[in-house]
Amino acid sequence: MNINWQDFFARRTERVTGSQIRQFFALTERPEVISFAGGFPDNEFFPREDLARTMASLVKEDARQALQYGPTEGIYELRVFLSGKMRQAGARCEIGNLIITNGSQQGIDLLSRVLVNPGDPVLVEEPAYIGGMGAIKSYGGVTNGIEMDEEGPRPESMVKTLEKLIARGLKPKFFYTVPNFQNPTGTTTSLERRIKILEIASRYDLLVVEDDPYGELAYDGTVPPSYYTLDREQRVVFLGSYSKVLIPGIRIGWMAGAETLLEKVILIKQTTDLCSSSIGQRLAYRLSHDGYVNRHIERLCDLYRQKRNGMLEAMQQYFPPSVKFSRPGGGFFTWVTFPDNYPTSRELLEMALERKVAFVHGIGFYSNGGGSHTARFSFSQPGLDDITTGIRIFGEMLWEIESELNKNRPAVNQ
Ligand SMILES: Cc1ncc(COP(=O)(O)O)c(C=O)c1O
Repeated sequence: MNINWQDFFARRTERVTGSQIRQFFALTERPEVISFAGGFPDNEFFPREDLARTMASLVKEDARQALQYGPTEGIYELRVFLSGKMRQAGARCEIGNLIITNGSQQGIDLLSRVLVNPGDPVLVEEPAYIGGMGAIKSYGGVTNGIEMDEEGPRPESMVKTLEKLIARGLKPKFFYTVPNFQNPTGTTTSLERRIKILEIASRYDLLVVEDDPYGELAYDGTVPPSYYTLDREQRVVFLGSYSKVLIPGIRIGWMAGAETLLEKVILIKQTTDLCSSSIGQRLAYRLSHDGYVNRHIERLCDLYRQKRNGMLEAMQQYFPPSVKFSRPGGGFFTWVTFPDNYPTSRELLEMALERKVAFVHGIGFYSNGGGSHTARFSFSQPGLDDITTGIRIFGEMLWEIESELNKNRPAVNQ
C-alpha cells in the first residue's frame, strides 16, 4: 500500500512553504551562472589553516570537554566572554543574560516557540529576512509588515499597524528586526529610529527581537548602539552569530535577554537539541578570547568592502538611472528597485537566467504583498571580476528593456 504522507504530516508543517531562495538555488548555483542570489559567506575567506590547527589541538588537549555533551545554555567560558563583549559595547549583560544557540536562526525559532501561539500577530520589517519569517510562521505567528525607508522601520507605520491590530482585539508579542545591514535591503536603522521604536515598544508593551549577524561587517565606520544597549526595560532580545564573522559550519550564535525569558528558552532548547555543538563552542571560544576573531573581522571587512565597492560601482556604471539601488555600509546585500513600467522582477530573473546571471526577486521578503519590482543582490560570494561582468550583463539587459519601453512610449507634442 502506498503511503499518503499528507495524512501523516502535522498541521503546523502546512504553514511553512519552500523558500523561493531555495527554489531557485538549483538554477542559480549552476557553475556557469554568475549568482548574486545566495547570501552565504565567501568560502575563500574561511581561515582554513588556522581552523585546522585549532581543531586539532582541541581534540588533542581538550577532548573530554570538546567532544562531550555540554550544558544546554552553553559552555561557561564562551558565555562569560560574550556577555563581557556585550558589556564592552555598553549593554547590561551578565552571564545569566546570555545563552549559546545553534546560530541565530535557532534563536528566532526558540523565541517563536516560547512566545508565539497560533494566530498571534508578530511585527516584522517589510521587506524582512525570509528565514526569520519562516520560523515565526512555523509556530502559527501571523507576520505584519512594518514599512521601511532608508533610516529603517517607519515609526508611523508601526503605530498604525499596532492600532489596527488592537482595534481587532489582537496584541503582538514582538517586533523582529535586523537593524544592521539588513537582509534583504542592506539598510541600517538610524539611532533616532532605534530610540523611537523602543519608545513605541514600551508604550505598547512589545518585545523587540534584534537579529544582528552583520553588524561587525561594517565597511564605512561603526553602526549605532544596539537596541539591546539602548533598552532600559529588558524588552530587547539580542541574537548574535559567528556565521558571518568566522564560519557558519560550526552553527554557533548567542541570545542575550532577560533571565526570566532565557530560563524558559533553555527548557525548550533542551527538548530540541540538548545542547549546542560542544566542539563548535570551544573553537569559537579559543579563537575569540585571544582576539583572533577580531583580527579576522578586520581582514573580512577589507575583503568584503572591495566586493561591495565593486558591485556599487558596476551598478552605477551599467544600470539605467531609473533603476535604484541601496548603498549598504556593510553586510552582504544591496536592494534594487525597478521602475513600475518594467517587467516584474520575477520576469527579469527569468530573462537574466537566460544570460546566466541570477539574483533573488523581492516578493518573498514581503509579508503583506508587494515587492514585485524589487530584488536582492548579494555581493558576498562572487569574485570581483564576476561581480563586474554579471552586473554589466544584467545592466545591458535593463538598457534593452529601457529602449523597448521608449519605443512604445507615445510621442509627446505630435
Ligand atoms: C538576518 C539573518 N538572521 C539569521 C541568519 C542565520 O544565521 P545563523 O547562521 O547564525 O543561524 C541569517 C543568515 O543568512 C540572516 O541573514
